[in-house]
Amino acid sequence: MLVLGIETSCDETAISLVENGKKILSNVVASSLHLHKKYGGVVPEIATRYHVELIDYVLEQAEKEAGIDLDDVDLIAAVYGPGLVGALLIGLTLGKVLSLALGVPLLGINHLQAHVYAGMMNQRKNKFPFVALIVSGGHTSLFYVQSFLKWRKLGSTLDDAAGEAFDKVAKILDLGYPGGPIIEKTAKKGDADKIRFPRSYLGEDSLDFSFSGLKTAVLYYVKDHESRVTNHERRNIAAGFQEAVVDVLVKKTLKACLFKNVQDVVIGGGVVANGRLRERLEKELKPLGINVHVPEFALCQDNAAMVAGLAYQLYKRGKRSRLDLEVNPNLKI
Ligand code: KG4
Ligand code: ZN
Repeated sequence: MLVLGIETSCDETAISLVENGKKILSNVVASSLHLHKKYGGVVPEIATRYHVELIDYVLEQAEKEAGIDLDDVDLIAAVYGPGLVGALLIGLTLGKVLSLALGVPLLGINHLQAHVYAGMMNQRKNKFPFVALIVSGGHTSLFYVQSFLKWRKLGSTLDDAAGEAFDKVAKILDLGYPGGPIIEKTAKKGDADKIRFPRSYLGEDSLDFSFSGLKTAVLYYVKDHESRVTNHERRNIAAGFQEAVVDVLVKKTLKACLFKNVQDVVIGGGVVANGRLRERLEKELKPLGINVHVPEFALCQDNAAMVAGLAYQLYKRGKRSRLDLEVNPNLKI
């Protein structure tokens, strides 16, 4: 079964063709990130305009790279939330048009579930149940996943998302946008033990997260040491901050696994690109017999292969969308 996936929830215009949920025939991603850099964050109007301008080209490329004709497509999958309303509209509208024109069904996909599926794409056989850790620019949450249709939330952030904290701390340190990759790079040259920033665990049994206190601690540290914040000091701050975020993510994920007694964790979202997070999850969970399933690096960022792949699994289990499906910027799992 050949599925065409469309992803336009934020600043990536992505279309992909995937066979039987796992075999990626093409995965084209165009990003407007360079246009947002000077504003220090994604500007919704610019992202939306870029989707309109680029989406035809991205579709053509996806078709060409896969070496298939659109007539061979069996299902159209488009992300309908969560994300920026204007941006989502472009992708979902294209999905509806293609579904009508080709006479094939449409399936709306949740962007966050697709991020998790990215970590399952190289599993030969889907493994359930598992704990899912979603860490992106807008979300940080843990789920207990019993099947593609049965997700239960275990916890989520009460304030900032992990990626958002990376972005804000990069801003405080004058490192640019997006913060995640720059903080990681800067932290590599620093010493994480030099400055200990606070970790917020929110009590013994909580699986919720809070990163705003950590962000504020970095802000006050920089204010208090203004005259001494050299490049050398910046590296130590970045390393200390990253270690604090990773500490919390690893400990809570482990706690969720022990609580639900599962042997598999799937992680997804932009922050999963972080090498230190991957390394520490592997190092601390593996000895306890817990396997960590990580998306390929290219599937950590927003892409449509994860959308097409998940759509195949859901379609097989009876999921369908109507053509009057609407975008939902605040869509929950
Ligand atoms: O999933 P994503 O591409 O977009 C959303 O759906 O939000 O995630 C983007 C987020 C940004 O906040 C970015 O700073 C963060 O992922 N990120 C990272 C890294 N690469 C991207 N955070 C930490 N380390 C990284 N290497
Ligand atoms: Zn995303």
